[in-house]
Amino acid sequence: MFTNHQYRLAARPSGLPKQTDWQYTEEPAREPNEGEVLVKVLYLSLDPAMRGWMNEGRSYIPPVQIGEVMRAGGAGKVVASKHPGFVTGDIAYGTLGIQEYATLNGTELTKLDASNIPLPVYLGTLGMPGMTAYFGLLDVGKPKEGDTVVVSGAAGAVGTVVGQIAKIKGCRVIGIAGGKAKCDYLVQELGFDAAIDYKSQDVKKTLRAHCPKGVDVYFDNVGGDILDAVLTQIARNARIVICGAISQYNATSGVKGPSNYMMLLVSRASMTGMVVFDYADRYPLAMQEMAAWIAARKLKTREDIVNGIEKFPDTLLKLFKGENFGKLVLKVADS
Ligand SMILES: NC(=O)c1ccc[n+]([C@@H]2O[C@H](COP(=O)([O-])OP(=O)(O)OC[C@H]3O[C@@H](n4cnc5c(N)ncnc54)[C@H](OP(=O)(O)O)[C@@H]3O)[C@@H](O)[C@H]2O)c1
Repeated sequence: MFTNHQYRLAARPSGLPKQTDWQYTEEPAREPNEGEVLVKVLYLSLDPAMRGWMNEGRSYIPPVQIGEVMRAGGAGKVVASKHPGFVTGDIAYGTLGIQEYATLNGTELTKLDASNIPLPVYLGTLGMPGMTAYFGLLDVGKPKEGDTVVVSGAAGAVGTVVGQIAKIKGCRVIGIAGGKAKCDYLVQELGFDAAIDYKSQDVKKTLRAHCPKGVDVYFDNVGGDILDAVLTQIARNARIVICGAISQYNATSGVKGPSNYMMLLVSRASMTGMVVFDYADRYPLAMQEMAAWIAARKLKTREDIVNGIEKFPDTLLKLFKGENFGKLVLKVADS
């Protein structure tokens, strides 16, 4: 009844994904069986983690297999339902994949109220990246009022929310991001206390100037040299949240680990990895609190929306080139 276009994983990439790592396919959308729902995909979330899902090997989630539709979270409209919880016209979130139509069990979908909140916000600040920021900062980073919080990847989907929540909690916040426009946005629009442009400034030196008493919480989205630089500036009992390491995701000659890790010993500090899915049972409460912050203009959202499923391969690369400004979203259909 509907024609479905899809991006499937054709090959496991080495370095940045290439066009030939994808296969663009066409087939009829599958009618729902008992308990299933057919969703027309409207918006897809493009995330750095997708690069990791393309690799073989042990991770927190199984890799996408060769020939499978590429995994992606997304929001869409129900066009047929054989699940009692959904009717045609409902708006829902789920792991829809890079395709135009997805047939899923109703238990894998969450209904969304799109009357007051634009759908892309449910993929960013009120979605997986926002949940990552909320739980990574508050549960793992445990900031106290007056603490100095540093966040890398600061102008991105996770980073912007980390910094703004840290401000709400009464912390001094320093963001690290690439380029003047992103740094200006962090300070002038989002109220960060300072921002460091890692592409034109010496991170270690500038950080020392901005954090004379050291860094109490470091929320790391990028790993590599920036993690190493921040390690030299941590305060006693600092908490380092290992959220991601985007600078290393396309490495072809091994991941660069922190050579300054002995600063953890010197500073009696901790470094803790976090995976957002572990907090799934608490998402509704976090969403409620964050929606209230958005309504009160304490938390601002920014989405970078690209139109057209056929733009997927190039658009994904924006994340690794620093070309996205805010949460990267692929728009697949209007309604
Ligand atoms: N642990 C979890 O459960 C979890 C969940 C969600 C996301 N994450 C992680 O959180 C991080 C941020 O994700 P996001 O969705 O918010 O992405 P994002 O920040 O919106 O986009 C990625 C940004 O990373 C920066 N970047 C790319 N290459 C870089 C490099 N070599 N060095 C420094 N910065 C680089 C770029 O910004 P600049 O212009 O500033 O370079 C780019 O815009 C990622 O590492 C992701 O894997 C983890």
